[in-house]
Amino acid sequence: MTTLVARFRIVVGAFALLALVIGAQPVSAQQPTSVNPEASSVKEDQLFQELNRISGRCSIPDQKACTIEQPAGRDWRHFHQVVLPWIGAIAILGMLGVLVLFYLIRGMVRLESGRSGRVLVRFNVFERFVHWMTATCFIILAISGLNITFGKAVLLPIMSAEAFTAWSQWLKYAHNYLSFPFTLGVILIFLMWIVGNLPNRVDVEWLKEGGGIVGHRHPPAERFNAGQKMVYWVVVLGGAAIAISGYLLMFPFYLTNVAGMQTAQMSHAIIGMLFIAVMLAHIYIGTLGMEGAFEAMGTGEVDLNWAKEHHSLWLEEEKARTGPSGIQRQPAATPAE
Ligand code: HEM
Repeated sequence: MTTLVARFRIVVGAFALLALVIGAQPVSAQQPTSVNPEASSVKEDQLFQELNRISGRCSIPDQKACTIEQPAGRDWRHFHQVVLPWIGAIAILGMLGVLVLFYLIRGMVRLESGRSGRVLVRFNVFERFVHWMTATCFIILAISGLNITFGKAVLLPIMSAEAFTAWSQWLKYAHNYLSFPFTLGVILIFLMWIVGNLPNRVDVEWLKEGGGIVGHRHPPAERFNAGQKMVYWVVVLGGAAIAISGYLLMFPFYLTNVAGMQTAQMSHAIIGMLFIAVMLAHIYIGTLGMEGAFEAMGTGEVDLNWAKEHHSLWLEEEKARTGPSGIQRQPAATPAE
């Protein structure tokens, strides 16, 4: 009898030990396989949609901080982390690809009649100052903006965390402070060049003939051709839109609620990416794309033959306005080497 009780004890002890081992397994291993983890998250998502947001109670004055999550916020996060980088990469790399291809096929638009040795003033000192001030601000705003969108993915892996933090912090200051001279530049560009950038019939003919860039013809143009007018309006309208949305972001919640902030951020970022793509084309034409074009904004003077080929109607106007003396000037002497 004693042996029977002892054996019974051993069996019970073994079962108890087994139960203990099973019970000690990690929680995840206990999950019954029949439960679909997706199903619970769908329910959670439905709940979010129905309740609209998850908010709690908080004692700080800014009650917006009590909202922890809302459906629009998650849509916005997806835009910022997935959609925006794609839009930016396609717009900017796509434009670079098109320009490289265009350069390989068309090459530089040459001054077909060569240089005459005589020049005329195209942009005065003030115009050039405004152009370069706005352009410099634009380039730094573009780099600092792109750092917000792509920096973490592209630079953080190749920099130390400290270096990336310092770089991003300085770029963020630059983005904030340079927005002011940039906005001033856009306003001055608007006022300075509005006369000369209103579309007219000459533009239609110019466009029909491919602007002399696509083919080898030189359609007549006034001071600004249709292509330059388009760039002007992109700068004025794009600049206004990016400044308005940018200041809404810089001074959050003064004029908008959360939804307005999200719209401002999305518009700002998309306009920024497209703006950069258009300006790449502008920079290309002003440098590699066309012989003699850079001088217009560099020294402010262009060769007479350049004016004849690209802005024949403007040249006529200038001749009539200034008399021959206005276009008889010799180019500024090049310094001895
Ligand atoms: C008046 C001019 C501008 C103002 C006031 C402004 C303001 C701002 C502000 C406050 C932010 C948010 C920064 C943050 O999240 O900490 C931002 C982001 C950004 N800005 Fe600007 N900005 C201006 C011009 C520009 C220009 C000219 C460009 C492009 C050429 C640009 C491109 C961007 C980009 C790409 C972002 C990042 C978008 C993102 O990934 O969230 N901005 N800007």
